[in-house]
Amino acid sequence: MADELAGKIAVITGGVSGLGLATAELFIEQGAQVVIGDFDDSGGDVADRLGPACRFLKTDVAKYGVRVNCLLPGQIQTGMIRQAVSSEVDPEKLEHHEATVHEIMQSYQPLKRKGEPRDAANAAMFLASDRFAYITGVVLPVDDGISVGDATNNVARFEEARSLFPD
Ligand SMILES: NC(=O)c1ccc[n+]([C@@H]2O[C@H](COP(=O)([O-])OP(=O)(O)OC[C@H]3O[C@@H](n4cnc5c(N)ncnc54)[C@H](O)[C@@H]3O)[C@@H](O)[C@H]2O)c1
Repeated sequence: MADELAGKIAVITGGVSGLGLATAELFIEQGAQVVIGDFDDSGGDVADRLGPACRFLKTDVAKYGVRVNCLLPGQIQTGMIRQAVSSEVDPEKLEHHEATVHEIMQSYQPLKRKGEPRDAANAAMFLASDRFAYITGVVLPVDDGISVGDATNNVARFEEARSLFPD
């Protein structure tokens, strides 16, 4: 199990934080060599921390791609929401707003499971495996069932979540 990705070189976009970082960590654990693509300059520090299996490449990789699959995360706590709105929301309210958004989003999830960055990393590992080399161009929800859940009853709560943040 610990060398399921041995011999592979993975380019992981957005690998400095959140889901990309969790994916880089898992891929290295599984024997892959990893190149982090990110426009955050702290990528060099992250690469140092992850060790010799990781190299940092400052790049915007949107225009590149060979086998291209897309993960569609539901809501996994990574600080993404906080970062997106931190300059516009009263800092004292930020934590409460963020928790409220997560709580509302979880009401859409049929299984009510709290998503971890490792959940997205595991899905990336599934797609990176040789066993799934025939898969490309898929969009894979990693969302505790949000995309099949009954969201119609929750429109009001979605609006409530939206109203917490400026447009
Ligand atoms: N966390 C979730 O629940 C969730 C839900 C839906 C979608 N997503 C998407 O998943 C992706 C990762 O989310 P996350 O939660 O890990 O966010 P994050 O903010 O923790 O990490 C995103 C990383 O991508 C880097 N980045 C952003 N734009 C870039 C670019 N053009 N070129 C190179 N690097 C870039 C950032 O510097 C950062 O390190 C994002 O696209 C996000 O919109 C996340």
